[in-house]
Amino acid sequence: MRLFIGIPLDAAVAGELATLTARLKSPSDGLRWSASASWHITLQFLGQTTADQFACVTAGLRRIRHAQIEIQLEPPGFFDRSGVFFAGVRVSPELAALQQQVVAATTPCGFVPEDRPFHPHITLARDKSGGLGLRRLRSHVPREVRFSSFVAGEFLLYESFLGPGGSRYEVRESFNLEPV
Ligand code: 2AM
Repeated sequence: MRLFIGIPLDAAVAGELATLTARLKSPSDGLRWSASASWHITLQFLGQTTADQFACVTAGLRRIRHAQIEIQLEPPGFFDRSGVFFAGVRVSPELAALQQQVVAATTPCGFVPEDRPFHPHITLARDKSGGLGLRRLRSHVPREVRFSSFVAGEFLLYESFLGPGGSRYEVRESFNLEPV
C-alpha cells in the first residue's frame, strides 16, 4: 500500500479555496486540478508500506498526544521544479511540532525522515503541459487573498491509488487531536 499522513481541510475553508480555483480554471489550461474532496495538508509521505509497517505506524500514531491546531492558509504559490500550484499553509510552532511527532512515530517502523524543511501546502493543480500551464496561471493568481482559519481536530492516514487521471485517496485510519 502507498500511504501518507495528512490533515484534511475544513469544509468552509475548502469552499473558499474552491471559489478561488473555479475562477482560475479553464478548459485546456494544461493543468490537472485536484478534486476539492481530496484536499489535505501532508505531514509525511510514507510511500510503499508493508502490513507490518502499517501496524507499526498505526500504533505509533495512536500514541501521539497533541492539542487541536489552528490552521491558517496563506496565499497560493508555485513549486516550479515539480510543476505544482499550491495554497500555502502557515508553519505555526504547533503544526511543526505535530509534524515532528508524526515523523518520530514512523521512524521506528523503517521510514526515513525527509531532509527537506517542512513546507506544508495544499496541492491545487499540477502542470501537464511542460510548464506552459503554470506560466499562464501565474499572471492570474491574486497575491492578496485571505482565507479563514480553522481548527484541525484530527489527522488521517491515507492510502493513495495512482491512476491515469491523477491519484485517488482513501482514509485508512484517523487520529484525534485533543480539544483545548
Ligand atoms: P504533493 O501534492 O505536493 O505532490 C500524496 O501523494 C501526498 O503526499 C501529496 O500531498 C504529495 O504532495 C505528498 N508527497 C510528498 N512527498 C511525496 C513523494 N515523494 N511522492 C508522492 N507524494 C508525495
